[in-house]
Amino acid sequence: MTKKLSKWFRKFHRWIAVPTALAIPAALIIKLFGSEELVATWERLDKVPSILMLVMALTGAYLFLLPYIVKSQRKKRSSEAKEGQKLGAAKLSIQESK
Ligand code: HEM
Repeated sequence: MTKKLSKWFRKFHRWIAVPTALAIPAALIIKLFGSEELVATWERLDKVPSILMLVMALTGAYLFLLPYIVKSQRKKRSSEAKEGQKLGAAKLSIQESK
């Protein structure tokens, strides 16, 4: 589950990076050098770069946490397997002593 989700998040983060990288300098250029008409038109789309950055920050935060999530899941799984082995060995020794 984590593997599929992480693949999807990585792809999403990578592809949203393209419009984000275009939108932020475009917004700056329009604000600095755009005609009044263009600035007025842009005002309606003004929130787009912020929303894209928010999406990047959220998916990026997940990608940042991913190695720690995987590590803790692996630790949990290996400790469960060890418990299982211990239980199996204990059952075997009880059967042998009977
Ligand atoms: C603002 C908050 C952001 C955070 C917290 C963040 C965090 C991350 C993290 C943790 C990774 C994975 C690194 C790894 O372990 O390989 C990553 C990958 C990447 N980030 Fe971001 N990022 C942010 C914003 C951005 C922005 C603004 C861009 C570009 C416009 C960007 C482009 C990329 C790309 C292209 C990758 C590589 C994806 C891949 O593996 O294909 N990120 N980011």
